[in-house]
Amino acid sequence: MSIEDLESIALAMVAPGKGIIAMDESTKTIARRFEAVGIKNTQENRRAYRELLLTTPDLSDHISGAILYDETIRQQTSAGMPFTEVLKKAGIICGIKVDKGPVALAGFPGDVVTEGLDGLRSRLEEYAALGAQFAKWRAVIRITEDNPSSTAIEANNHALARYAALCQEAGLVPMVEPEVLMDGDHSMEVSYEVHESVLRSLFNALYEQNVMFEGAILKTSMVVPGCDYTEQASVEEVAEATVRVLKTCVPASLPGVVFLSGGQSDAQSTSHLNAINSVGPHPWPLSFSYGRAMQQSALQLWSGDREANYAEAQKTLYMRAKENGLATLGQWSSE
Ligand code: 13P
Repeated sequence: MSIEDLESIALAMVAPGKGIIAMDESTKTIARRFEAVGIKNTQENRRAYRELLLTTPDLSDHISGAILYDETIRQQTSAGMPFTEVLKKAGIICGIKVDKGPVALAGFPGDVVTEGLDGLRSRLEEYAALGAQFAKWRAVIRITEDNPSSTAIEANNHALARYAALCQEAGLVPMVEPEVLMDGDHSMEVSYEVHESVLRSLFNALYEQNVMFEGAILKTSMVVPGCDYTEQASVEEVAEATVRVLKTCVPASLPGVVFLSGGQSDAQSTSHLNAINSVGPHPWPLSFSYGRAMQQSALQLWSGDREANYAEAQKTLYMRAKENGLATLGQWSSE
């Protein structure tokens, strides 16, 4: 696949007014989400829930792509249509999570590094054959008094860059995701500094591995203070700091940047995105790739009464997509 082909997929992922639904929770992560609302973590429950999300009427009005998990990309609707086919019919680009999650980084207490490079080339080939057009790899950066070490930042970014190069070789757009966690009591300034170090080092690593920026997407956290910090930041402060750090670190040749929600509420994630897009123009489209902030209200409804609330849960998901889609244009308002 040519770089032009990769670039056109990347641009479609961040088409105006649209964003991405992350529904790629690992079996362990979805267990936590299900447990919180009293759903048993069985394969059939996971399949039924993902079917609800993927078959939401008119989802593609505001959703350009969906990130699936290994189990999900192989599943079907109850009527027997493969989920990949459901996406194709709706004109939604199929993405796949390919990392194997973070583990403790030996020698650096508190830091983690994401695994999953071994055997990745053949896994990517298989996912491409199943219909995936982009892939996601999430690195996790924790902030404490002693973390992150520069070694942790480099190790994670080296892995992200190796993964991204393999994706482009396989004809998949890499969505490179360094997530700086909101956990902790750090200030806005510390969050800014960590984001700056991580993003500068990331684009160096991508350059070193010959990754073509034109065919990649950045998925990043926003610059926010830790959830336990005494002073929370205003929506405008978050937008200003987030845009500033991106302009400082991210090459203009990148087709787009998307944000994760990372534990922000629905209202916060949407108002931050809207504010970010109200202070433009920016060198790239700035959109969303939310998991929790897209799904949590729909999951809550579905868990209450699966049959009676089915359509309402889908409507709620559609509304979250619409609100976030408007926020990518700076056109959302809380009314
Ligand atoms: P959240 O929006 O729930 O943080 O999930 C996004 C994601 O895909 C993290 O990798």
